[in-house]
Amino acid sequence: MSAPPLNVKAHVDFIAALDKKKNDYEYWLTEQAVLNGIYWGLTALFLLGAPDTLVREDVIQFVVDCWDSKTGGFAGNIGHDAHLLYTLSAIQILATYDALDRVDTDRVVEYVCSLQLPGGAFQGDRFGEVDSRFSFCALACLTLLGKQDSCDVPAAVDFVVRCKNFDGGFGSVPGAESHAGQVFCCVGALALTNSIDKHIDRDHLGWWLAERQLPNGGLNGRPEKLADVCYSWWCLSALTILDRLHWISAEPLSNFILNAQALEDDQYSRESANKLSGQALDDAQDHGGIADRPGDRPDVFHTLFGVAGLSLLKYPGLEPVDPLFCMPLKVTQRLGLAKEKY
Ligand code: FPP
Ligand code: ZN
Repeated sequence: MSAPPLNVKAHVDFIAALDKKKNDYEYWLTEQAVLNGIYWGLTALFLLGAPDTLVREDVIQFVVDCWDSKTGGFAGNIGHDAHLLYTLSAIQILATYDALDRVDTDRVVEYVCSLQLPGGAFQGDRFGEVDSRFSFCALACLTLLGKQDSCDVPAAVDFVVRCKNFDGGFGSVPGAESHAGQVFCCVGALALTNSIDKHIDRDHLGWWLAERQLPNGGLNGRPEKLADVCYSWWCLSALTILDRLHWISAEPLSNFILNAQALEDDQYSRESANKLSGQALDDAQDHGGIADRPGDRPDVFHTLFGVAGLSLLKYPGLEPVDPLFCMPLKVTQRLGLAKEKY
């Protein structure tokens, strides 16, 4: 299937317009996770070659205001509870803007390490949910802060390895079914700790990941599920780390992502413009952004992972992305953390 080219300007405008949508119902639904949204938007903007779109000082100040001085972690919005998911986003945003000196990083390190349990796993916050996602968040955060050794690394690796399944994939906890999002997290955790070859059979897991490509070119996250643009990131980043990116058919996948763009003349954009009038129409950015699949409503999460997936596929004009941190490669190179081999 053919596809339109990447509409860089529409996606930059789409992300820039999100800030104006604070009165929308959807904004309030995601209010507790604003910091994640800023990380997704900012990273997409850097990859699209438009790093100055947001006001740097305003973003940094917002991140600083989300810091919870009681725990030392970051919340998803001002006045909310700290969580590892938001703490990683905060550190990624500050690292991207070269502004890690704006927070007390020792306290952040203490917070992250305080969430490690005796068996090596990390809980996401003080309420105790355990998930291999949190192992990745903790190790990525500590690595970005140059303090990986502050936690018990062998125990952290041991927990991740216990999440590995007979099919070569990884789940959220030991015994849970393989899921490409968790594969990204577990491969990432093992790459961060230089233990890929000790614990992963690259061909076995590469096979499971390559099996995620469907006849429409897109990738799914588990057998029998629909293709979804975000898996272009979760699967491709892991395949890149495993040096098996060529096991995917690149052109059908790029076309799947490009066809999920919301463009000016498509049905989604026409319908959303028809629902608006007057000032609302003037304020709205009724196109731009990438959806989970062609024809669906775009959002900033799938916009990042579509753009980042295309970047891994070397789509012309995009900035290179670091497959391990999902950050601009230039940033991880500046921090001395970019790897040639995993
Ligand atoms: C799918 O979720 C994705 C995951 C389980 C991985 C999430 C990874 C993190 C939070 C780590 C930080 C990520 C980055 C990029 C730095 P889903 O709930 O959408 O799954 P579903 O498709 O099965 O609903
Ligand atoms: Zn998705």
